[in-house]
Amino acid sequence: MTPVRRIIIDTDPGVDDAIAILMALAAPQVEVVGLTTVGGNVSLAQGTRNALALLEFTGASQVPVSRGASRPRRGKYLYSHEFHGKTGLTRRMPAPSIRECGEPAVEFMAGRLEQHPREIDLVALGPLTNLARLHRRYPGVLAKGRSVTVMGGAVGAPGNVTPHAEFNFYSDPVAAREVLETGVPMTLVDLGACRQVWISREDAAASHEEGPLGRLAAEILQGWFEQDPRRDRFEFYDPLTMAVCLDPDIVGSQPVTLEVGTEQGSRWGESRVTGEGGPVSVADEVDAPRFFALLETLLGIKGS
Ligand code: RIB
Ligand code: CA
Repeated sequence: MTPVRRIIIDTDPGVDDAIAILMALAAPQVEVVGLTTVGGNVSLAQGTRNALALLEFTGASQVPVSRGASRPRRGKYLYSHEFHGKTGLTRRMPAPSIRECGEPAVEFMAGRLEQHPREIDLVALGPLTNLARLHRRYPGVLAKGRSVTVMGGAVGAPGNVTPHAEFNFYSDPVAAREVLETGVPMTLVDLGACRQVWISREDAAASHEEGPLGRLAAEILQGWFEQDPRRDRFEFYDPLTMAVCLDPDIVGSQPVTLEVGTEQGSRWGESRVTGEGGPVSVADEVDAPRFFALLETLLGIKGS
């Protein structure tokens, strides 16, 4: 069956990344062209291992994994083991026997976007280091994507690293600024949107999906809650971003001109609207029932 959609997922798996990847693997008529990995939630090596393990475990070993950046444009990645657990996945996964493809992430993305202009959707779920490198090394190629959907930023919402900064932007604000300034039309799914869709501990515990993808997603979610008894809700950051790529009408959005704080100090990684109109459409209203209907269809997970 000819795929209707073809997606490259740039990712730092990560619990919520994993659920977003499982959604794409479960989506009918979607071809996951590849996973490009980036440091962020965990090290590049660990994130790449997690990506390979997820694909092999779910019978999707044919999907190429291409390693990207191990460091941001400036400094080092934060890593977020307190949230994502020691390995970055809150369910023990068999060590992968498959290996990443030899092509580096930037060349992987550039090659596919050049070969198939306007056919491949790009979904960015981690720090934007790979996308910034792609733009620097291959100017104009990012615009050859069919669409670009980014999880990042805290536009008019409190951050989750500092009061002003969201994790992906905080991890590499220079890259985030470069990507947002390319002028390429993109949809930004920020914390303000993501916090509108979440699942409670009880609902996660009640998720018993039959299929392997849904079962793994439920186990990862349950594992996340088990990590800390104080956790009462899991917010769907990367899954909402993936859902927006699959069904853009899940959110409303506002076109803005956005800048990212790259000055050291309290504004590091802050996302600031500097004007109305512009190439970046920031998701605002989320059609939560529509999102949860898609999540249940794909992975059998019922939201709160
Ligand atoms: O701020 C949330 C984002 O940071 C998500 O992509 C999560 O996986 C982490 O990377
Ligand atoms: Ca992520």
